[in-house]
Amino acid sequence: MCGITGYIGFQEAAPILLGALKKLEYRGYDSAGVAVLGRGQLKVSKAKGDLSVLEERLGREMPEGTLGIGHTRWATHGEPSDVNSHPHVAGRIAVVHNGIIENYRRLKEWLEARNVVFLSDTDTEVIVHLINYHYTNVSGDGGLFGAVREALLQLEGSYALAVVSADFPDRIIAVRKDSPLIVGLGKGEYFLASDVSALLAHTREVCYLEEQEITVLYRDHADFFTGEGERVIRTPVHVDWDTEAAEKGGFEHFMLKEIHEQPRAFTDTLRPRLKRSGTGDYAIDFEEISFDEDETWTTAPRIVITACGTAWHAAMVGKYALEHFTRIPVEVDVASEYRYRNVVFNPKDIFIVVSQSGETADTLAAMRFARKEGARILAITNVVGSTLAREADLVLHTWAGPEIAVASTKAFTSQLICLYLLALKLGRARSRISGNDYRRYLASLEAIPAQAEELLARKEAIQRFASRHFNKSKVFFMGRQFDYAVSLESALKLKEINYTHSEAFAAGELKHGPIALMDRDTLAVTIATQTRLFDKTASNIQEVRSRGASSLVITWDGEHSFDTITDEVFRIPKTEDTFSPLLSVIPAQLFAYYCSVLRGNNPDKPRNLAKSVTVE
Ligand code: G6P
Repeated sequence: MCGITGYIGFQEAAPILLGALKKLEYRGYDSAGVAVLGRGQLKVSKAKGDLSVLEERLGREMPEGTLGIGHTRWATHGEPSDVNSHPHVAGRIAVVHNGIIENYRRLKEWLEARNVVFLSDTDTEVIVHLINYHYTNVSGDGGLFGAVREALLQLEGSYALAVVSADFPDRIIAVRKDSPLIVGLGKGEYFLASDVSALLAHTREVCYLEEQEITVLYRDHADFFTGEGERVIRTPVHVDWDTEAAEKGGFEHFMLKEIHEQPRAFTDTLRPRLKRSGTGDYAIDFEEISFDEDETWTTAPRIVITACGTAWHAAMVGKYALEHFTRIPVEVDVASEYRYRNVVFNPKDIFIVVSQSGETADTLAAMRFARKEGARILAITNVVGSTLAREADLVLHTWAGPEIAVASTKAFTSQLICLYLLALKLGRARSRISGNDYRRYLASLEAIPAQAEELLARKEAIQRFASRHFNKSKVFFMGRQFDYAVSLESALKLKEINYTHSEAFAAGELKHGPIALMDRDTLAVTIATQTRLFDKTASNIQEVRSRGASSLVITWDGEHSFDTITDEVFRIPKTEDTFSPLLSVIPAQLFAYYCSVLRGNNPDKPRNLAKSVTVE
């Protein structure tokens, strides 16, 4: 997730672009850049680091001109660096991009075969070279617009783009596909941004670009075209949001926004890796990891996973999934324990480290320990260019976009997607999954984003439930196997942002202690998605209810095994039992969020907690 912006009008562009980038910084903050067109020349300034680094650089030499584009980056392809920052330039053309070009390697080869030299490691650079190639090499009277359209025909993936050229100081061309882009209308000026929040300081009249729509912005008018090149008339809409609400996309808090971004994060993490052939066959393609060339994957005797906090809970789900699909023994440990434990180490093990930030001190220390012992390290992280990503041998990125709220939501479920893909790929490589089952599992994963959308539409039921229970002094979550891992994450969410005494336990452990705590002031939430264990779980629910606790069961659509033994049931769309955590955690996230708000807390900034713990 990056932020892009543009300005064309009569004012100096650079300060307007910087103001917009400030509003967009929550979308990405590892580097920023602008290109300003003045006196027939394109001046590009870009810098690694947050916006202040670029501001300082520009402060000394603010580029003059009344047309420009800007970008704030959240690295996907190529680590954060000056050269990988946007805008990218080819010839007299500059481009900023938000999204991922999935076929960029092929396009890069295609361009290199035509003597194009690349400077950066980004997918974006292929876009500007493609446009420049068509502009300079292909005859025809399409000019810049025609070249952009030619280039678009070759791109696969998602993009919001803004394109400027020193040959055309009177226009900005912009287009969107699967990434948001909004045009702001002024008098004698037009604005462009990934998010309406960046436009509100200047105008409240906006046009949200439709899928594949192209716009050409001039100083005195704007043209709009469908992807097929048909001209369309757009009527602007009036926005009366306040600026802060707009940054949160209309949500009250970043946490709620990020919970709602999960379908999108699922798609972004899955789509580049899940390939479907014309015959309907699926394959998992990790460009990052080659199973064929590296026999570690097929011969390792054991998998070890370390992580902290929410990422550790993802690791627990990963253990159940990896053991189920690959039959390789998996060991999971919190990084702070692992690093000081007298571990029995085998350098042939697959060593996986999970971390949203890639900067957690204990997690890095555990990784460095394993590295010293000779292990190859696979990192699962959300932050390109993080210390973990740089030091690991292999990296699987979660494409969740920046997570701002301290309590992790979309990063957690995106970590699960990576772990499931890994488990399936490895299971198939080790012949533990038949071709038919493999297809069925991957089709189920592909359906998860839509099911998560469907689930989020049921959030009012959770909100009502929270309004009855937010003041409970004790909340317990219980479940078996995958449901136990989700119980741990659910209890953590409630601790983090509602400051409730909440605990999770494996449902079978109830009789070994936790049942002594059950009374009328207890809420017991049971996560029940493992069909073969329903009878066992039902007994546990009856045990807690007979001690006076209120009971909520989270289970599948169409499942009625618990209706008569619980106070309430919340249902989630049915997927494979093994994939249930991807969905069953969402009501728990929402429950913690609503409880926190009802108690008057700020869920985005819980007391005493930090987003990234970089000290021991
Ligand atoms: C902190 C955060 C948690 C996070 C944990 C691990 O405690 O508040 O939300 O799960 O660190 O962070 P990481 O960035 O390594 O996933």
